[in-house]
Amino acid sequence: MEEQEQKNTEYFVIKAKEQGVQVIGLTRGKDTRFHHTEKLDKGEVLIAQFTDHTSAVKVRGKAIVMTKHGVVDTEE
Ligand code: TRP
Repeated sequence: MEEQEQKNTEYFVIKAKEQGVQVIGLTRGKDTRFHHTEKLDKGEVLIAQFTDHTSAVKVRGKAIVMTKHGVVDTEE
């Protein structure tokens, strides 16, 4: 597979542990801003990728975040 085809293939999973967890996508490139906010209800799961438009993701609220780097719980 060529390098270009292998870009942004990785998925991450977010599971909401409370109502109204926000998953916020931040733009790729020079200008870093919010471009999308997804609201999850308790128990809802979002499966998403990093893309040409999204280079970072911010999670607000109690959730479990699963990536290839491991599992992170936003709760203290
Ligand atoms: N249209 C967005 C994109 O392709 C959708 C998206 C992908 C997104 N991953 C995300 C939105 C993560 C929020 C968080 O980049």
